[in-house]
Amino acid sequence: MSNEKKVLFTIFGGTGDLAQRKLYPSLFRLYKKGNLGEHFAVIGTARRPWSDEHYRTVVKDTIRSLNPSDEEAERFASHFYYQSHDVNDSSHYQTLKELADRLDEQYQLEGNRVYYLAMAPQFFGTIVAHLKSQQIVTETGFNRLIIEKPFGSDYQSAFELNEKIRQVFPEEAIFRIDHYLGKEMIQNISAIRFANNVFESQWNNRYIDNIQITFGESLGVEDRGGYYDHSGALKDMVQNHILQVLALLAMEPPVAFSEKEIRSEKIKALKAIRIFEKEEVLENFVRGQYAAGDLDGQQFKGYREEDKVDPASTTETFVAGKFIIDNFRWSGVPFYVRTGKRLTEKGTRINVVFKQVPVNVFRTDIDEPCTDPTLPPNVLTIYIQPTEGFSFTLNGKEIGQGFSTGPIKLEYRHSAEMVENSPEAYEKLLLDALNGDGTNFSHWEEVAQSWHIVDVIRQVWDQEQPDFPNYKAGSMGPQAAFDLLEKDGFEWIWQPDHWYRERGKLE
Ligand code: BG6
Repeated sequence: MSNEKKVLFTIFGGTGDLAQRKLYPSLFRLYKKGNLGEHFAVIGTARRPWSDEHYRTVVKDTIRSLNPSDEEAERFASHFYYQSHDVNDSSHYQTLKELADRLDEQYQLEGNRVYYLAMAPQFFGTIVAHLKSQQIVTETGFNRLIIEKPFGSDYQSAFELNEKIRQVFPEEAIFRIDHYLGKEMIQNISAIRFANNVFESQWNNRYIDNIQITFGESLGVEDRGGYYDHSGALKDMVQNHILQVLALLAMEPPVAFSEKEIRSEKIKALKAIRIFEKEEVLENFVRGQYAAGDLDGQQFKGYREEDKVDPASTTETFVAGKFIIDNFRWSGVPFYVRTGKRLTEKGTRINVVFKQVPVNVFRTDIDEPCTDPTLPPNVLTIYIQPTEGFSFTLNGKEIGQGFSTGPIKLEYRHSAEMVENSPEAYEKLLLDALNGDGTNFSHWEEVAQSWHIVDVIRQVWDQEQPDFPNYKAGSMGPQAAFDLLEKDGFEWIWQPDHWYRERGKLE
């Protein structure tokens, strides 16, 4: 049976960065693999007055690194059509509809349509309303909406947006992108947990001390200052990516590995996360903003000096916090999270820290009561990026006479070649959406609950003036992020800044 999908994509924001960096190359990979064949077409829309010809040249440029032959690139790009479009002007949707209907016939697409919203979120509602009022959604075939983040800027705005969208698309036709859910090792969390009894049997508060999720970025805000200064790290990373990953780590095993079952478990996990009172926010969450700094001889400017950022900005570029999950499995196990811009290294990883053995039988002061086991804990690390894999740290006997123990790391990493050849997150997610599989997308209830969790943190922070900037570019964030764990008797397992400090590359 052929995997080939018949579909018309309409991309709102077709000239934008996301379309060029992610969507066109992903569509090309799907084309090369035969998931898209001759029966597909793409309409790119944006305000700029581009011709089809120019648009196709741009599309060809975006796939150059994938080394297509000239003929292949030409054939692929011939499926792309450009429509200059003002999203607020109803008459423009008429032109769009005519083009869509014509392409449907020309490529025999059977009314299957995917609308991709890859533009400023304030237009999402208007676009969706017009898709219906101007009868662009078809009566036959499937009509699906793929929508980029941010989905609202708090619960209320997300709710209102969702209401508008639901007037046109049913929940199962809405694919809210969280590109982290397309990443190989995030998808692997479920395999590690549910395909290995050795872990799943220990995956609870009897055996796990704490779980640490670090989403570190070495880049600053680059050219996204305008967006970022109104968002900040809490909304940009915690509300979506981090809480999604936390849900995958914390959820109960689903009855089956299906969209419906996984969703229902993720929602339950998110609902078990404590929504904090003001005092709890202040105790459990810290924020930071980077000052100028240097790392390994390279100078970086401070956040407030970045382009399109308010010079007195109080936007956080760093968040660390402790989530508490109030259910039988996790009661008493802190989930520490940390994310920030301009940190020491780009690295996304999860450290699952197991409890220490109750008694250290190898201690030398055998006559003393043993209160402190002092053996390093077993740690399961899931490396999400830039390398992919996992490691498990055990204690073993050190070679030689006598009996001392030391940590041994069992390690597995995907090879560079495997990573290179594995589908990109966007490619996987686009194919999922074409297959109508919403497993790796955020369901409305997940989004809503995540906003409830994050909104209270935001509200408390908005009432207080932060003492910014409070960490140097190139470091792993403000001191408060280290204190947060220390006061619980823990420490961050991943400390790349130490590595740099030890070598004199960071003050
Ligand atoms: C995006 C955020 O969702 O994720 C960005 O808006 C962030 O600020 C990016 O840089 C990180 O994604 P990745 O895949 O590079 O880790």
